[in-house]
Amino acid sequence: MSLHSDNDHSEIKEYFSNKVIFLTGATGFLGSVILEKLLRCCPCLQRVYVLIRKKKNKDAPTRLKELLSIPLLKTLREDYLEKVRVVVGDVTIPGLGLNESDLNVLIEEVDIVFHVAASINFSASLDKAVLVNLEGTKNTLLVAKQITNLKCFVYVSTAYCNCVLRDVVAEKVYPNRWEPNELIQLIKALPPIIRERRTAEILGGHPNTYSFTKLLAENLIQAERGDIPVAIVRPSVVLGMSDESPLPGWVDNVNNGGVAFIAGAGRGVFRTIAANQDTVADIVPSDLLASLILAAAWAANKDNDFKIYHFTSGTDNPISWSDYCKYVMEAVHKYPCSKMILYPRAKVRSPFRNSLFVIIGHYLPGFIIDKLAIINGRNPILMDIQHKYSRGIKLSAYFTTNEWKFHKRNTNNLAKKMSAKDQLEFSFDTKKVKWPSYLETCVVGVRKYYHGEQDDTLALARDRLKT
Ligand SMILES: NC(=O)c1ccc[n+]([C@@H]2O[C@H](COP(=O)([O-])OP(=O)(O)OC[C@H]3O[C@@H](n4cnc5c(N)ncnc54)[C@H](OP(=O)(O)O)[C@@H]3O)[C@@H](O)[C@H]2O)c1
Repeated sequence: MSLHSDNDHSEIKEYFSNKVIFLTGATGFLGSVILEKLLRCCPCLQRVYVLIRKKKNKDAPTRLKELLSIPLLKTLREDYLEKVRVVVGDVTIPGLGLNESDLNVLIEEVDIVFHVAASINFSASLDKAVLVNLEGTKNTLLVAKQITNLKCFVYVSTAYCNCVLRDVVAEKVYPNRWEPNELIQLIKALPPIIRERRTAEILGGHPNTYSFTKLLAENLIQAERGDIPVAIVRPSVVLGMSDESPLPGWVDNVNNGGVAFIAGAGRGVFRTIAANQDTVADIVPSDLLASLILAAAWAANKDNDFKIYHFTSGTDNPISWSDYCKYVMEAVHKYPCSKMILYPRAKVRSPFRNSLFVIIGHYLPGFIIDKLAIINGRNPILMDIQHKYSRGIKLSAYFTTNEWKFHKRNTNNLAKKMSAKDQLEFSFDTKKVKWPSYLETCVVGVRKYYHGEQDDTLALARDRLKT
């Protein structure tokens, strides 16, 4: 592979030609976006094995069928979808819980591993986060190291795994006082009550178990990868797909705070963000992230390569939380939800004013509307929703009231190595994102794919907004 390319030729497509991929986390938001990008833009790849666990009484093959029927993957040709095969497993089990025959197939066939699976729940207990994010990464890496012809291991981390740093964050692994394996052993050995008591001390300043365990997973990969090429991609807050994608606005869950705000604002129940007016909201489109992840795999095809790529927008195309909120609310008024609960309005407030507002603007209307619902023989639902959102606001406040500067040297250099054709088809240039129109696309996407509202409910919703 030459990294200096002729301009109308796609080296990335060519690189993926005949390759076999192993992808974890395909049933999640980002995993589905990566899967779509792989299948659509690299039509000559041979196969994608996706690791899926049994969940809620659904076995993995049934979950694969459901995955292949999501609107995003329905945009693909049937023969592309036929390249996807399920392997049943769970990252928390040694050997990923694979049966012998699946393990052998992966060992013999796979070229590239994308490890995307994680628990992104900020309120996960320490043992759960260590199990999924740290041991899960160790188990995946151990399987990857057995693969005969592995070209590279791509790990999706998070830009916020270094959120305790108050300076510029570089594209390097920052050590932690905990050695990952020692921490895994300690967490297993501690009785639950002591573990809970010691959590804050163990986190050592990290605001949650998520950022902490993602950082330790990076440390573990660096220490234990042997000589396999590794690319670690660190995105900030990932929102819906941009207008350049086949399904603008696509999201399949509201697991992260940025998307959750859009969902709650659309129904009028999320009405405040705790931030300073000009604090930077570091948000990125998911389809651009998928492009970077594929390009990082292409570039890592060298012995012993180890690179980290930040995928952030705050330094090259900053948008403040107040502008984010303003553009989201403008779009919510243009594309309202017919199922709105309260009149949609939201503002950025200082942390103190935000706490007061949660009581007056979230809980008080929730309490009144629920009482009215009970009187009218309907189910009270709003207080539950408000508890959920208020918990979300609390958990996200650390990230909305602080800001970070992320180096992007590796990411920018990678773009420069790509041919003009690849720069178009696998673009991850965050400078080009026009925030007002992109956030409008995100609002329309959440309305459609999360709230399930079709265009024909728009007229009714607009009427409702006026009254
Ligand atoms: N979303 C963001 O804003 C963001 C930002 C920065 C970094 N990231 C990183 O991007 C990656 C994907 O995030 P996402 O937003 O796509 O999360 P998501 O929608 O919550 O998806 C998580 C995925 O991980 C899988 N998973 C969890 N536990 C597993 C287990 N024990 N065994 C096998 N699979 C398991 C889930 O499978 P099930 O369907 O079986 O639960 C699901 O496919 C994560 O590594 C995250 O740290 C995300």
